[in-house]
Amino acid sequence: MTQITTTFAGLKLKNPIIVSSSGLTNSAEKIKKLEAAGAGAVVLKSVFEEQITVQAGQMSGYGAPEADDYLSAYVRSNALNEHIALIKEAKKECNIPVIASINCYSTSEWTEFAKHMEEAGADALEINILSLQTEKEYKYGSFEQLHIDVLKNIKNAVKIPVIMKLGNNLTNPVALINQLYANGAAAVVLFNRFYQPDINIDTMAFTSSNVFSEANELTEKIRWTAISSASVPKIDYAISGGVHCGKGVIKSILAGASAVEVCSAIYKYGEKEIAEMTKELTEWMASKGFENIESMKGKMNANAAGSINPFERTQFMKYYSNHE
Ligand SMILES: Cc1cc2nc3c(=O)[nH]c(=O)nc-3n(C[C@H](O)[C@H](O)[C@H](O)COP(=O)(O)O)c2cc1C
Repeated sequence: MTQITTTFAGLKLKNPIIVSSSGLTNSAEKIKKLEAAGAGAVVLKSVFEEQITVQAGQMSGYGAPEADDYLSAYVRSNALNEHIALIKEAKKECNIPVIASINCYSTSEWTEFAKHMEEAGADALEINILSLQTEKEYKYGSFEQLHIDVLKNIKNAVKIPVIMKLGNNLTNPVALINQLYANGAAAVVLFNRFYQPDINIDTMAFTSSNVFSEANELTEKIRWTAISSASVPKIDYAISGGVHCGKGVIKSILAGASAVEVCSAIYKYGEKEIAEMTKELTEWMASKGFENIESMKGKMNANAAGSINPFERTQFMKYYSNHE
């Protein structure tokens, strides 16, 4: 009998399909439907540090400094209250693990939020430090250090598992993952997806390119999960970005992931895609003789590649010479 249960960040999931943080997970009603459609867990829509700071800033300038302080605190606590209410409601209505999410870019204030989320019943906390590094005076390594500092603060505040969702703008994700593991992270998610601006050459206006991912975006995550899971095997991995069907789930687990965090495929094809994914995974496992996720996890990571590791290959001499 093929078992597709998995453990991710200390959480027991009935299958590896986690619906990732997005508008799909911003209400208990939607989460209930995702659970009925077979989701293994959900990550709630993030509370954004930027959003809250901007909101609080917009509310200022109404009078005495004390009034500004009051308004800022009010807006902050209201944004938090909404999120706390969502955690409580989702926990009441559903049985699958509910992972709260904070999108932040500094070490201030956020530990306070984390405590409230834990108290509201969140099963784990996903921290997302998605930020482009563009300062001219950038100090090398400071972005990586920020991840570690944020993690340390959060770990001091909560006991629930902490998951770090990384961007793909890191020089060496393996070294950072190793440090995150040493500082108590239960899991990492590779990778979050940046907003993609574009230029319309007819109107000479700035536009947004695809909001949703394409399936071919998966290979970058496969590469880094395969390399990292071989090098830092004790932390759990989830792949997010370009998992569009059961084959994507299978590849992710073979590369070393315990779970996948999916969003675009559900937006595009509907929540029925979750059942399609678990079906394809189960059938493939049965056809290859894998009885459970643990037995297939990491089977095709960098350790399996031997001395010629394709994941660390960056030059394509042979490939290019075959394409004239
Ligand atoms: C409409 C939309 C909203 C999103 N909102 C968040 C968010 O609030 N927090 C977050 O960490 N990721 C957010 N993401 C990123 C997704 O969780 C996911 O990591 C990314 O889209 C890659 O997965 P996919 O290829 O399955 O879409 C969002 C993505 C989309 C498309």
